[in-house]
Amino acid sequence: MTSMLQSLWKTIVSLQTGKTEDDFQAALQKNQFDGQYQKYMSKFDHNLTLKFNELQYEEKKKERVGQGKTQEMVNAYYDIATDFYEYGWGQSFHFAPRFAGEEFHASIARHEYFLAYKMQVKKGQTVLDVGCGVGGPLRNISRFTGCNVVGLNNNAYQVRRGTTLCRKAGLADRCQLVKGDFMNIPFDANTFDHIYAIEATCHAPDRTGVFKQIIRVLKEGGHFGVYEWVMTDKYDDKNPKHRSIKNGIEEGNGIPALITAKECRKNLKDAGFEIIDDFDLVDEAIDMGSPLTWYASFESGCTLSQIKHTKLGRLSTQLFVDVLETLKIAPAGTSGTHRMLANTADALVESGRLEIFTPMHFFLCRKPVSTKK
Ligand SMILES: C[S@@+](CC[C@H](N)C(=O)[O-])C[C@H]1O[C@@H](n2cnc3c(N)ncnc32)[C@H](O)[C@@H]1O
Repeated sequence: MTSMLQSLWKTIVSLQTGKTEDDFQAALQKNQFDGQYQKYMSKFDHNLTLKFNELQYEEKKKERVGQGKTQEMVNAYYDIATDFYEYGWGQSFHFAPRFAGEEFHASIARHEYFLAYKMQVKKGQTVLDVGCGVGGPLRNISRFTGCNVVGLNNNAYQVRRGTTLCRKAGLADRCQLVKGDFMNIPFDANTFDHIYAIEATCHAPDRTGVFKQIIRVLKEGGHFGVYEWVMTDKYDDKNPKHRSIKNGIEEGNGIPALITAKECRKNLKDAGFEIIDDFDLVDEAIDMGSPLTWYASFESGCTLSQIKHTKLGRLSTQLFVDVLETLKIAPAGTSGTHRMLANTADALVESGRLEIFTPMHFFLCRKPVSTKK
């Protein structure tokens, strides 16, 4: 019975992710899954997602933001969440607006091409992807433009997985993943023609700090394109419901503390960037006739790839994962991790409906050209 369930689980996951037996072994060797889950959850207070308490929030925030604290928390999050992301979402770990008749994965790729197009990436140029996940976007952008991309990521498990996927895609000569912290980027000044970050810099303990690192390694005149997770102008910090939703997004996504679009704009300027374009793609997509919101796929979906995102899909995966963990097929902590991710989907949907949060505030920036001889 146990081995039948194990085979069934592996078949479902390999159909969805292309994982081989070796990949499964690597996933299982990820150290102390349960320990990482407990460590991660200790930085949050789940009750806050249900009822907001300002003092408790500030206390827990101190455990996430501060010297050396964020990285440990973010890495614990991605150690436990990566396999679920790949299973549920694919190799690109971000949202996208969607148009009528557009398939989910097509919308994800279009969102990446839009960024490359806005940055004017050219064949043969060298680009840095800051916080690259398992490299879904960098492989697509390299295929689309013919550029070379270096992906920077501080999560060792994702770097290993992404490197395997680049090799399997035949892109190992143009796409490489490097382990490193974006708060201390391990490259020389003026190295990259362009740099982008997709839904990653929200993990920084200090946004100006990460932007200063990015501008340092960018060549003069080069572009920095970024999709930021921020609270919109409609967010009211004094509204307990808004704050509770914000806390729910932080808890379920490994984010130390979300900031507003206004703060983010200031942080980019303080780091030395010139801002060329600055808008919420949610509004832009509506202007362009997109009838589907970025969170639509959490609400409904009939295809196999999408049903997993919906409430029904999340409930059935939860049941299956509960059984697997009880039978000790899945490591301890798997069920709790899935529950945490499912809860955050609800917080994201609510934030989208209230328009208080966006995962795609787009900034196109330029590193000024120095006039010194
Ligand atoms: C939501 S995922 C997005 C991944 C990728 N951009 C994509 O769209 O598929 C955020 C990524 O940022 C990475 N990250 C978080 N903190 C980091 C840090 N301090 N240095 C480098 N990467 C970091 C995480 O490991 C994760 O890969």
